Amino acid sequence: MSGESLLAAPPCRRHRTSLLPRPMAANDRFSADINLQASRLASHSKVTGLFMRPCTRPRPRDRPAGPCADPDTSARRDGRKDGGETAMISKTPLRIRVRRMDYDMSGLRRYWYNDNAWITHFLNALSTTFPDGERFFIHSVRNFEQQIRDPELQAQIRAFIGQEANHGKEHEAFNQALIDQHGLPLESKLKFMKNALAWAKKRWSPREQLAMTAGFEHFTAILANLLLERKDAIADIAGVYSDMFLWHAVEETEHKAVAFDLYQAVDGDYWLRVKSMALATFFFMLVTLRMQYSLLKHDNQLGNWRDALGFAKFMLVKPGFLTRIIPQYLDYYRPGFHPWQHDNRHLIDPHIAALAAHELHAVKAA
Ligand SMILES: [Fe+2]
Ligand SMILES: [Fe+2]
Repeated sequence: MSGESLLAAPPCRRHRTSLLPRPMAANDRFSADINLQASRLASHSKVTGLFMRPCTRPRPRDRPAGPCADPDTSARRDGRKDGGETAMISKTPLRIRVRRMDYDMSGLRRYWYNDNAWITHFLNALSTTFPDGERFFIHSVRNFEQQIRDPELQAQIRAFIGQEANHGKEHEAFNQALIDQHGLPLESKLKFMKNALAWAKKRWSPREQLAMTAGFEHFTAILANLLLERKDAIADIAGVYSDMFLWHAVEETEHKAVAFDLYQAVDGDYWLRVKSMALATFFFMLVTLRMQYSLLKHDNQLGNWRDALGFAKFMLVKPGFLTRIIPQYLDYYRPGFHPWQHDNRHLIDPHIAALAAHELHAVKAA
């Protein structure tokens, strides 16, 4: 496949000279060439739409290639010298599989993580952000889906959307179980998430939304890595919910580079990427901790110091939910970062067969 065919967008204004027929020898051919160029640029503008905007301003030499860059530039930026003929945008080294699950949410223990109210409500808060958060990720990826010609990345985007849609569905059922079985006041929090993300869709441009999604995806990927690496983290989750979190962690690992690769292909601005990650971190911590506080207050557990100490140990020591992710988190701020530079396929391989068995059962039961 040629490099130019990997992106739907034709060459930008910066590359427009390549559109001119050569040589331009006679004056009587000059006006014809100009007309041809004008009509091609008009068609470029019509087709690429959103891509035209960043292409019209000068770009410093050292700035990462933007949407008007051809894939050859991306390949060179990534250190591949083979040019556009063999360069692909996707760097995911595995097949991303969409698994339909249908977990039984009955009999949910109130404090389902090691009987600890503080940790359970921290994870409940996380789950509350998932359904609408994952729909936001799908929306931001769909904004650019049509611009990609790399068949591998196209397939991975479809799988990403399928996986995130299923995560949203299962976490929606989990959140409903928390409401139905334990009367947790999640409705207002779910509504807050819906409104906040509707605001973000209006306030942020599509490229900003995609940059935020790439940042959040790295966040979920490093949390997933922790859950897969530290078996004690999963073992303390009661019942079927350990299976659900494990499934989510495996799939977050499988698709961890999809939004990132898409962002690099259609924009790739380093400063927007890292700024978005800083913002994503701020919102993520603020919203999750605020929800945890509210749930603890509702359950009159704010003064439960035994569980508070257990939560501090969970975050800082075992499994070190906060401390152990810091190095991988900071890695995202490196200019040459890519999610698969940390190859953790060995953490998901042992779970693939078990997930397939469960998936089969779930489909049969449906
Ligand atoms: Fe997800
Ligand atoms: Fe994800």
